[in-house]
Amino acid sequence: MIEKLEQIKKEAREASNNSSSLEELELVRERFFSRKSGEFTVLAKGMKDLSDNERKKIGQKMNEVKSEIEAFFDHKKNEFEMKVWEAIAVTEAIDVTQPKLPTPGHGHQHPMTIVHTELEELFTSMGFTVLDGPELESEYYNFDALNIPGTHPARDSQDTFFIKNHPEWVMRTHTSPVQVRAMQKYGAPLRAVVSGRCFRNESTDASHEHTFYQMEGIVIDRHISIAHLIGVMKELLRGVLRKDVEVRLRPGYFPFVEPGFELDMKCLVCGGAGCGACKHSGWIETLPCGLVHPKVIEAGGLDPVEWTGFAFGLGSMRLCMQKYGIEDIRHLHGGNLSFLEQF
Ligand code: DAH
Repeated sequence: MIEKLEQIKKEAREASNNSSSLEELELVRERFFSRKSGEFTVLAKGMKDLSDNERKKIGQKMNEVKSEIEAFFDHKKNEFEMKVWEAIAVTEAIDVTQPKLPTPGHGHQHPMTIVHTELEELFTSMGFTVLDGPELESEYYNFDALNIPGTHPARDSQDTFFIKNHPEWVMRTHTSPVQVRAMQKYGAPLRAVVSGRCFRNESTDASHEHTFYQMEGIVIDRHISIAHLIGVMKELLRGVLRKDVEVRLRPGYFPFVEPGFELDMKCLVCGGAGCGACKHSGWIETLPCGLVHPKVIEAGGLDPVEWTGFAFGLGSMRLCMQKYGIEDIRHLHGGNLSFLEQF
């Protein structure tokens, strides 16, 4: 039996040395060690016929031979694996001296998106709903429902894009139409903000664009006063600009509020000295606002004796300019990456 073991050892060494791949080596391993018919396994099974004494002696030898054969196989296996790693090292080597390749830049939010998102978060934290409204609006919602009838001179202050052959449709000139839509849809009490694009036939300059953004706000409840209005406006400016800003309130005329105000803030671009952004006045008209006119409440389907409210129409592009110190509104639509990548 000892001789047989020596014979198997010799053959196993030769067979493993002659194998030319991992797969072949596996077959060799099977040949000697497979559970049923492996040459070594079969021999080991013969142990049971030996006497106790012999079994002890041969068992020891058998263990030695088994370890030796396994060592041949492991050695050969390592050889094959090294070859695989060498091949990978050649094909996938990293050249640490190679200069860094330019990585594609990450996208990011437009400054107007940042401002609107911040505003919406601020207002939702105060219990407001965020609403949406159509950009192609009916003349009724854009004007009549807001107490601006066809012959009213206030129509002239909003140089409107009417739709060819459809005089009853306009590109909305402000976000205020959503005030009435919101009241009609949700009734009272109501707290809502609406941000979106508005359109006017303006010639563009540092502070005017034909397409611009507003954020409208409306609160309808019982016993709403100017104190509520001013409180929310201050919270708004502090929330977005992250500092207390100097403001002034002056009377302003808008047919859909009574009384109406213009809330101006000290220009943050020039600190009040005068620049393109503030039309050289040192103040920015930021927040037209007022108490909702009874006729507008009525158009919203509510009883103006029972319900009161305030509203505001924030020029959010101008606020964005103040927040970031942008001196020309046209940058915000310019699509110039070297400008936009600063945010
Ligand atoms: N819609 C007005 C505009 O674009 C701004 C405005 C003024 C909105 C007063 C309001 C408001 O809600 O109360 O000129």
